[in-house]
Amino acid sequence: MERFVVAGGARLAGEVQVTGAKNSVLKLMAASLLAEGTTRLTAVPAIYDVPVMASLLETLGCSVGQEPGAVEVTVPAEPGCEAGYDLVRRIRGSIAVLGPLVARCGRAKVALPGGDAIGSRPLDMHIAGLLKLGATVEVEHGYVVATAPRLTGASVWLDFPSVGATENLLMAAVLARGTTTIDNAAREPEIVDLCTMLGQMGAQIGGVGTSTLVVDGVDALRPTAHETVADRIVAGTWAIGAVMTRGDVRVDGGRAEHLEVPLDKLVAAGAQVDVDATGFRVRMEGRPRAVDLVTLPYPGFPTDLQPMFLALDAIAEGTAMATENVFESRWMYVDELRRLGADVRTDVKHAVVRGRERLSGAPVRAHDIRAGAGLVLAALVADGTTELSDAQHIDRGYQGFVESLVRLGADVRRETVPDDTY
Ligand code: EPZ
Repeated sequence: MERFVVAGGARLAGEVQVTGAKNSVLKLMAASLLAEGTTRLTAVPAIYDVPVMASLLETLGCSVGQEPGAVEVTVPAEPGCEAGYDLVRRIRGSIAVLGPLVARCGRAKVALPGGDAIGSRPLDMHIAGLLKLGATVEVEHGYVVATAPRLTGASVWLDFPSVGATENLLMAAVLARGTTTIDNAAREPEIVDLCTMLGQMGAQIGGVGTSTLVVDGVDALRPTAHETVADRIVAGTWAIGAVMTRGDVRVDGGRAEHLEVPLDKLVAAGAQVDVDATGFRVRMEGRPRAVDLVTLPYPGFPTDLQPMFLALDAIAEGTAMATENVFESRWMYVDELRRLGADVRTDVKHAVVRGRERLSGAPVRAHDIRAGAGLVLAALVADGTTELSDAQHIDRGYQGFVESLVRLGADVRRETVPDDTY
């Protein structure tokens, strides 16, 4: 088990690099299944989930070359079509092989990833969409089994602009016979990134970046080379850290246009944000002001920055209300924030935070990637030392988190300790 030991009282200052997005690269790796041959991805983050996805693709008959910052996936003429529980349960993103395998092989058997710390995370919209495209879909023995000699274009409406369902149905539709319309589709930059790569592979997709995607199916796609879009959640984490620690951080490679709402909220909290051609800089003097937030699908406030922003409100001047609209149980980490002395009350959808002048260091635990990052930011501004256990969650989404914090002037160290969970 990984543990981070964080000394409070840090001021983050300097420059930090942002590389490709976890929530894009995993889907781009899955999309490579759509074409025989070698697809090369660059700006690939050194995070835990990438080699796990690579292992999953290898179980499907691919060979995957990994080098710093890049991955090459070589897909055979006939990939396997069964994605086993052992790998799928480790990273939910692996459900993204469902669409490509049905489209490419006419059959897919993918383990159900199950729920996690932030919600039950059903797949009903993925399944309903595949049924619309003419697949037969069974859920049996913990697996989704979808078959279709060839999918047929159709109109699909999503009850909620689900990122995962949009991606799976997009990747299913690109090789279907005829035209598919996905209405109320997700519009996240990671979806645009996937559409861009699929377009390079020969796919015909209209309405990219809008909530209506129109896909004219083609008979075959070709491999390609693609650079992964920058990770806006990592970039946002550094921006919030700069404000909480009254610091001055330039986020090199961060795309401010993908973070409009969060950066606006930091300005409302009192920060100065300067955008340049290759990144942005965030500076803060004095104590931040409390700011309300409402999580929504893109371009709304991203749910993945909610724990970090709540940590900011916990030390801000005033009282804030946060509303979580995307996941039904994304407050689990709040008990840990309270251990650091935060004054937070929650109900199902809302959290009310009364900002405190000071937090105090304590032993806390990370329940998931973003909760972990939020607790580290809170620990940076707490009196004394905080020990964050289960910090390996953070490694799933952040490349070199500890090293970057130290480079920005924080006193943080990593310890590998025997797992104490019983
Ligand atoms: C992706 O999850 C991201 N994960 C999440 O990031 C992110 O929080 C989420 O999108 C929203 O932006 C990856 O890309 C690997 P959804 P995903 O389908 O695709 C419900 C992180 O920390 N829903 O948009 O699973 C669902 O339960 C992670 O990096 C259904 O009800 O998200 C949720 O409440 C956490 N039925 C909501 O929709 C479905 O069939 C949004 O889920 C599908 C989804």
